[in-house]
Amino acid sequence: MCSVVGYIGKSLCKGFILEGLKRLEYRGYDSAGFACLDSESKRLLYAKSEGKIDVLYQKISSQALDGYIGMGHTRWSTHGVPSIENAHPQFDCQKNISIVHNGIIENHTELKNILESSGHTFHSDTDTEIIAHLLENLLLSHQTFKAALIDLVNKLEGAYAFICMIQNFPNEMVVVRKRSPICIGIGDNEMFIASDLLAFANKTNKVLFLPDESFTIIKKDSIQLYDFSGKPLIVEAQEINAYWQNIEKNDHESFMIKEIYEQKNAISKTVNFYKDLSTTIWDNLGLSPEFIKNLNNINIFGCGTSWHAAKIAQFFFEKICLIPTNIHLASEFRYMPFFPDKNSLYLSVSQSGETADTLEALRMVTSLNCHVITITNIASSTMVREANGFLLTQAGPEIAVASTKSFSAQLTALYWLSNRLAFEKNIINLNQMHVAESDLLICAEALENTIENYKLLIINELAKKYSLYRKFIFIGRNISYPFAMEAALKLKEISYIFAQSYPAGELKHGSIALIDENTPIVIFSVLDDIIYQKLLSNAHEIKARKGHLIAFAFEHQKELINLADQTFIIPKVNPLLAPLAMTGLMQFFAYQIAKTLGRNIDQPRNLAKSVTVE
Ligand code: M6R
Repeated sequence: MCSVVGYIGKSLCKGFILEGLKRLEYRGYDSAGFACLDSESKRLLYAKSEGKIDVLYQKISSQALDGYIGMGHTRWSTHGVPSIENAHPQFDCQKNISIVHNGIIENHTELKNILESSGHTFHSDTDTEIIAHLLENLLLSHQTFKAALIDLVNKLEGAYAFICMIQNFPNEMVVVRKRSPICIGIGDNEMFIASDLLAFANKTNKVLFLPDESFTIIKKDSIQLYDFSGKPLIVEAQEINAYWQNIEKNDHESFMIKEIYEQKNAISKTVNFYKDLSTTIWDNLGLSPEFIKNLNNINIFGCGTSWHAAKIAQFFFEKICLIPTNIHLASEFRYMPFFPDKNSLYLSVSQSGETADTLEALRMVTSLNCHVITITNIASSTMVREANGFLLTQAGPEIAVASTKSFSAQLTALYWLSNRLAFEKNIINLNQMHVAESDLLICAEALENTIENYKLLIINELAKKYSLYRKFIFIGRNISYPFAMEAALKLKEISYIFAQSYPAGELKHGSIALIDENTPIVIFSVLDDIIYQKLLSNAHEIKARKGHLIAFAFEHQKELINLADQTFIIPKVNPLLAPLAMTGLMQFFAYQIAKTLGRNIDQPRNLAKSVTVE
C-alpha cells in the first residue's frame, strides 16, 4: 500500500527519505516519487518514476536534488493507472503545494468538478491532486494558514494520511491524519514523518502518533497539533524502541520460501512466549476473571488469510472452550447490523495490525464499549494501540506479500488462547493445557517434515506438471474447509491461476458441473472419522466423473490415499491442528507452481502487504 515519508530538519533529506521508503517497500507499490525544497534557492525539486524505488534512486542519485525539507512516496494505485503522472507528489496549479498521500478521498469527483469549474487544471487521475488544488483555493480565501487547513480537512471525506510541503512556507510542513496511520519521530532539531515508524527506527525513539482527525504544522523544532475544529491538542510523544534490522533472504531465493521454512520456529517461539507470559497474560489481554466467567460468546474478524485463520479457530473455541463463536469478514462486518454484547469477546486478527477494514471494524466495536483483543504480529501497530488488549504472535517480520508464517503463528495463538480460556473456565486442567502446548510443537515438527518429504518430488516433477493447468478447485469439510479457502488464496495470489474453494459437501449442489480432466481438485482431509467418511464419499463422486484428484491425506487414511491421482501423506496430529500440519506443504506446493510460471512471488502483481485503504 502507499507509504509516505517526510523530513524537516538540520540535515539533507534525500538519503533518509529513500532509505525510509525502501524499509516500507515490502508493503507493495507500483510507482515512487521524491520532492524537496532546494537547500539554497528553496525552489521545489522533484522526481517520479514508475516501478520500484531503485528506478527512482537511479534517476536522482547523481542529481543535485536535495534539501532540508522533503518527502517521498510509494504509490499503490487506487485512482488512475500506475504512471509518472499519477505518482506522488501531486501539485496545485502553481507547483507551490506538494502532497504525498495514503488513503482515499471519497468525495474527489465532487471536489474536482468544483475546482475545474473555478479554473483549476488537473494533470493526473488521482484523488490526491484534489488536495493540492483545494488548498491552493483555500489559501486565497482564508486569512491564515491554519484557517485554510481547518477548512481543507473538513472538506475532505474518506480515510487519509498526507504530508504537505509548500514552497511559500519553506520552514514548515503539514501532516494530516484521518483514519489512516501516520506518525512523527521527534529528533534533535529534526522531525521524521512516516506512515510506519520503521521508516525512522534507529533515528529517534520519541514518537508522536497523530490522533485520529488531527493535523499538525511542524517545524524542525516544534509541533503544533490541532483537531479538525482547530482546537490545539496536547499529546505526549511515546518512547518506542523500534529497531530496524535489514531482513535478508540469506541463502533463500525469495522471502516467501524463507518464511515458509521459518514456520516451525515461529510456532515454537509463539508457544514459548505465551508460556512465559504466565499470569500477566490477563493484563495484556485486558481481561478480568469476572469477564471470563460471564463470557458467553466470541466474535472474531479479519481479512484474507487472517480471516481464514479465524474461521479455523472457530472450531478451537467451540470445541475446546465450548463457547459459541462467530467469524466475520471485517469488510462486511462493519456494514451489517451490529448487536453489541458486553459479555462477548471480540478478537481482531491481523498480521500487520493496520488493515483498514479490520481496523474500522475494531473501532466500531470499541466505540460501543465492547472488549476487543487484537491478535497481531506487530507490537507497534495501530490495532495494538486502539484495542482493549492484545496477544502478539512471534512470527518475526514477514516480508513476502503472501502470508505464510503469520498464518501458522495466528493459528498457534488462537489455539493457545482457546485452551487458556478453557483452563481459566475449569474446562481443562493444567495437564491438558501443557498437552495443548506440546501438541502445537509436535505439529510444528510435522509441518516442516512434510515439506522435506515431498520437496524433491514437487520441485522435480509436480510443479511443472501442475503449472500447466489453468484452474484448480480446493475442497475440504468441517475444519479443512476454511483451510481449502486459504490454499486457494495462496495459489491464486502468487501464481495467478484461477482457484476456487468449496465445502466438499456443496459440490453436488452445483459446482460438480465444473469437474473435468483439466481441473485438478485438491482435497484436504480431516482427522475426525465421521467427517472423513463423508469426505471420502465426495472424493468417490469426483473420481466417478473422471476428476483429477490431489489429496492431502493423513497417514492411516488408506482409501483416500489409494483413490487420489496424487497424494501427500501428512502425519497424524491433534485433530484440531490438522490444518496447521498441512500448512507448510500446501504453501510449498503453491510456491513451486508459481516459481515454475516465473511469477514475482514476493511481490505479486496488484497486491500490497499492508492494505490501509478500505
Ligand atoms: O495484515 P492482515 O493480516 O490484516 O492482512 C489481511 C490480508 O490483507 C492478508 O492476509 C492477505 O490476504 C494476504 N495477501 C494473504 O496472503
